[in-house]
Amino acid sequence: MKNSLATSHGKIILIGEHSVVYGKPAIAIPLKSVSLDVYIEQSDKNHIQCKFFEGELCESSEDLIGIKTLIEKFFEEFNIEKNIKIIIESDIPNERGMGSSAASSVGVARALFNYFDIKHTEEDILEWANISEKIIHGNPSGIDINVIMNNKSVYFIRDKKIETFPINLDAYLVIGDTGIKGKTKETVSDVKTLLDKDTKYMGYIENLSILSDEAKKYIENKELENLGNTMNKAHENLQKLEVSSRSLDEMVNIANQNKALGAKLTGGGRGGCMIALCSTLEIANNIKEKFEEIGKEVWISKI
Ligand code: PMV
Repeated sequence: MKNSLATSHGKIILIGEHSVVYGKPAIAIPLKSVSLDVYIEQSDKNHIQCKFFEGELCESSEDLIGIKTLIEKFFEEFNIEKNIKIIIESDIPNERGMGSSAASSVGVARALFNYFDIKHTEEDILEWANISEKIIHGNPSGIDINVIMNNKSVYFIRDKKIETFPINLDAYLVIGDTGIKGKTKETVSDVKTLLDKDTKYMGYIENLSILSDEAKKYIENKELENLGNTMNKAHENLQKLEVSSRSLDEMVNIANQNKALGAKLTGGGRGGCMIALCSTLEIANNIKEKFEEIGKEVWISKI
């Protein structure tokens, strides 16, 4: 039986997406209900097998360019002449703001070090995973990789030492998938264009920064209602930054009309997922049903 050389879980950004790119704080949590495993075996040629491609690495699809580059650079750096087959098995939905690309980058980097028995540190994993993330995301803040590597909730500021941040709220997070691919690279770049065009947009980034710190305080004091309101305000600011979408807004409204304490998009936006904070499992299940009635995939996570 094959053994997994690396397991990564998904993640959700609770608050602070987009502003985190500009050095502002954000809070992210691991999503343990979805995960990814990486297996490596000897092969005649370098192969890769995952959800959307199976075949020779050199012929892999555009979606895999980050992982392909990471593997090629790794082989070059460590003078590896053996051929391998990398198998990525994942139930983390792709391009939904649930950390699928970061989980693959971290998983593949870790699996390569383990398979070739090369001594390494967590810093090395971060550095190698970043090779792929930079290609996929353009200008990643690093929050995805950090929360996935730590597998604990984090309070994150770009280029600062990562702070794990325990969240114990006795509440539930509904994660609703619009079913539309998120466009992180595009939205990050579009926000930059807005910021360059008009100073008012920096105001929304500053608001998000304040809201992230407020959220931290409310989490520490277990002030659920205030946390919910903060999430709603964060969503409004993300709308102003033009990264929401009709589908995300619709799901945020459904959640709020059905007794969520607050709701917002999560991740890059214009697709992907939204999250809703619920005080009871009953409320969370009811919102889940409402989403399923309109054909959406839903997860519930206790936080
Ligand atoms: O779409 P995701 O889950 O990869 O999240 C992106 C979060 C952003 O703040 C929009 C970008 C970043 O690099 O932090």
